[in-house]
Parts: sequence; structure tokens; C-alpha cells
Amino acid sequence: MEFIGRLHPLLVHLPIGILLLAVLFEWLPFRKPYKSLRRSIRIILWLGFFAALSAVGSGLMLMENGDYDLQSVRLHQYSGIALTVITLVYAWARGQKRLKKIYKFLSVLLLALVTTTGHLGGTLTHGENFLFASASQDAAVAQVDLQQANFYADLVKPILENKCYTCHGAGKQKGKLRLDAPEHIVKGGKGGVVLVAGKTDESELINRVLLPLSDDDHMPPKAKSQLTEIEIEILKLWIASGADFEKSVESNQLGALQKILTNKKPEPVAEIPEGNPNAANPIVVNELKQLGAVVLPVANGSHYLSVNLVNVVAIDSALDLLVKVKQQTVWLKAGDLAIKDSHLGKLAQLNQLIKLNVERTAITDTGLSQLNALTQLQYLNLNQNNILATGVKELTGLKNLRSLFVFGTNITADDVPALQSIFPNAKIEIGNYVVPTLETDTTLVK
Ligand code: HEC
Repeated sequence: MEFIGRLHPLLVHLPIGILLLAVLFEWLPFRKPYKSLRRSIRIILWLGFFAALSAVGSGLMLMENGDYDLQSVRLHQYSGIALTVITLVYAWARGQKRLKKIYKFLSVLLLALVTTTGHLGGTLTHGENFLFASASQDAAVAQVDLQQANFYADLVKPILENKCYTCHGAGKQKGKLRLDAPEHIVKGGKGGVVLVAGKTDESELINRVLLPLSDDDHMPPKAKSQLTEIEIEILKLWIASGADFEKSVESNQLGALQKILTNKKPEPVAEIPEGNPNAANPIVVNELKQLGAVVLPVANGSHYLSVNLVNVVAIDSALDLLVKVKQQTVWLKAGDLAIKDSHLGKLAQLNQLIKLNVERTAITDTGLSQLNALTQLQYLNLNQNNILATGVKELTGLKNLRSLFVFGTNITADDVPALQSIFPNAKIEIGNYVVPTLETDTTLVK
């Protein structure tokens, strides 16, 4: 059943082609060379009838199994059935000489039904306006007056409506989930809550969207119209900033939204160096793990390491060990630890580091300049440290910096121009809105 249903999109082309041929023959002029063709109209119509019948049959099976909003399928369904019946009537009438006068009328009716059914079907598979789609989607968002907009109603809801309601709305609730009203969204689906205000990485609603297209759990399913970059960013921002259903766009979200809409993407960070070093000493790696660090290869088969000191208490010992595997250590997450200026000397020996996260630590402007030794650094997260622009300005050695996060520090927008001249290639984030979390900022502790 399901297999036959899936053949529907293929099978429908058969009656379309056959029936259009019948219509064409009907309208060919009464001239000699064409006249004989008219005799074949009847047989063509019979063929068309059986083709239409199989299209209807497979269509009904697809309705049973497919992910369609039954409401919107109805019209297509009735139109397809009407088409089949008219084909039958036409085929029969074509054999009755006395009905000659209505041949042309029937052919026009048939043509209209073929076109309508086909278009309705196309809309089901490819979405409303599929002829002119993608460009219009983002244009619609761009037309919202952000200053007046309600974040959920004007920005989020239209996205869900366009891309999710068919399977998660009034008609169908795939995964026992409805997304067509706040109370349903909050309730979640069969796997529980799908929205955790302020936490994008815990919100299934966005996680599923971010899964690779090849993943079975990816939303919307592969064959359906996908979210645009802009739509994804809007959903992320909404969830990250509290997933409120009532509030208007707040002034501190405006900047981020405008950035999303003008589609300024940060320069991609070349996060993994080329080549592959020798494997790190497994004894050292083990000792690091014993101290509470999470040590993982940055990619499958790579000897480069991503280290997260998440549960480490003995910071000095961990840094000593890290120095022993500094050839391999390219990403280091050392946020939320009692890291002091006195630790930075050792940390600065990890000269292969490309990414360093030392948010919410005890470092100060005085110690910061030691990080100048990290010449490979492309990403530096200093969020929520008690530091000033003067301290960061000392980091003139970081020529490769692409991303600098100084949100929640004493650095303000006024400092940005000066910093930008020191780090001309870096995107400097001073906050005011939600700090984007890179996927790689989150480490799963298994
Ligand atoms: C063509 C149908 C279809 C569309 C469109 C669709 N989904 Fe789904 N969705 C499904 C199916 C089927 C499941 C159940 C899969 C499963 O059980 O793992 C599901 C499950 C989910 C779940 C998990 C629910 C739970 O608790 O298990 C989430 C979250 C979700 N979808 C989000 C979305 C979002 C967001 C959109 C729109 C951007 C969307 N889906 C569009 C078919 C769809």
C-alpha cells in the first residue's frame, strides 16, 4: 500500500500526458492530414481513463500514509476524481455520433480539470506558491516592521505555519505534536517538551531543524519545503531570548534581527588545522580524563584534540598535562573555572590553540597579555570576565583572530572601533543580545 502510494507523483504524469494529447487531437483543424487522427481520440481517452484511475488509486493510498494535511488534500482529491469521471463520460460520448456537439465542450472541461488537479497536487508537494517560492519567503519576513512587531505572532508563527502545520497542526499531529498555538507548543510531543525557553540546545523544536538533512529525525522531513537560513536564525533567536509568546520585539533584539535579515554571516572559522599530528600520548590523555576533563578528537580520525576542562578542580595539574599534549590540543574550553592570571603563563604554552574559551573566570587585564603567544588563535571567548578594553588591546599578537567575544565585560560599544582596528578580521561580539553558542561550545559528557 505504502509503496503504491509513493508511486503517485510518478503515476500522475501518465494521464496528464495522455489526456492532453486527446484534447489536442480534438482541436486539430478539419484538414485531411489530421482528420484521421481524430479516430484515435476515443482509444486515447480510454487509455487516459485507466491511467487516471490508477493515479486516483495510488493517490488515495498516499493520503492514508503520507504526511499531508488532509484538509488541503481534499480539493486535489475531488478534482482528480472529477477528472476521471469526465474522462469516462468523454470516452463514452466520443463513440456517440449524436453527441458530436459536446465533444469540444468536454475537451475544454477536461483540460481545465487536468490543469487544476495538477496544480493543486504540485502545491501539496512543493508548498503554496511553489512556482515563485523561496525568494518570497524571506521577503515576507523582511517586510515586517520590526519596531512594531510581536516576536512570536509576526516572526515565529508564520514560519511554523508555512513549514510545520501540515504535520503538526489541527489536521495531523505527527509525533503527537501540535505547533499551531502557544499552549500546544508548550505542551510538547510524544518525546516530551520541545521548547525550553532560553535554551536552544535543549529545545527539540530547533534541534531537529538543525540536524543534517540526511538524519531521519530532521525537520521538516527531507522531501518537504525546508526552512531558510533566515528562518532558522529567527527561531533560534526567539528561543534563546526566552521564547515569549506575547512580547513585542525588544530593543535589544532589534540589532540581532537586523543582522539576521541582512544576512551577515560571520566569517567561517577554519576550526581544524590541516594535516594530522601524531596521536597524543594516551597516558597523558587518560590522566587528563581522570582529573575531570573531556578529551575528544576534533573530528573522526583526527589526532587533533578538543579539550573541555568542565569538571576539573586541579587546574594546575591539568594545565601541566595539557602542555604535554600541546601539539594536539587545538580547542580548549576552560570557562567557569577558577583560572587566574597566574595560570595564563602555562595556558599560553598551548601554542597550537585555535579556539579558546575562558568565559567567567578570574583572569584580569594584567594577565591577559600573556595570551599573545597564542598566535594561531581564531576564536577567543572572554565573556563575562572582569576586563577592560585596555587589557584586550594588548593582544596585538593575535593576528588570526576571527571571533572575539567580550560580552558581559566592561567593554562597551564605544570601544569596538579601537578593538576592530587591532583585530581587523574579527567579528567582535559585545553582547546586548544573545551570544550565539557554537555547536562546538557544547560538549556531551557521556
Ligand atoms: C511532512 C510532515 C512533517 C512536517 C512538515 C514537519 N514534521 Fe515534525 N515530525 C514529523 C513526524 C512524522 C514526526 C515523528 C517522528 C518521530 O516520531 O520521531 C515529527 C516529529 C517532530 C518533533 C518531535 C516530537 C516529539 O515529541 O517526538 C518535533 C520537535 C518536530 N517534529 C518539529 C517540527 C518542526 C519545527 C517543523 C517545521 C519546521 C516540523 N516538525 C515539520 C513530520 C513532520
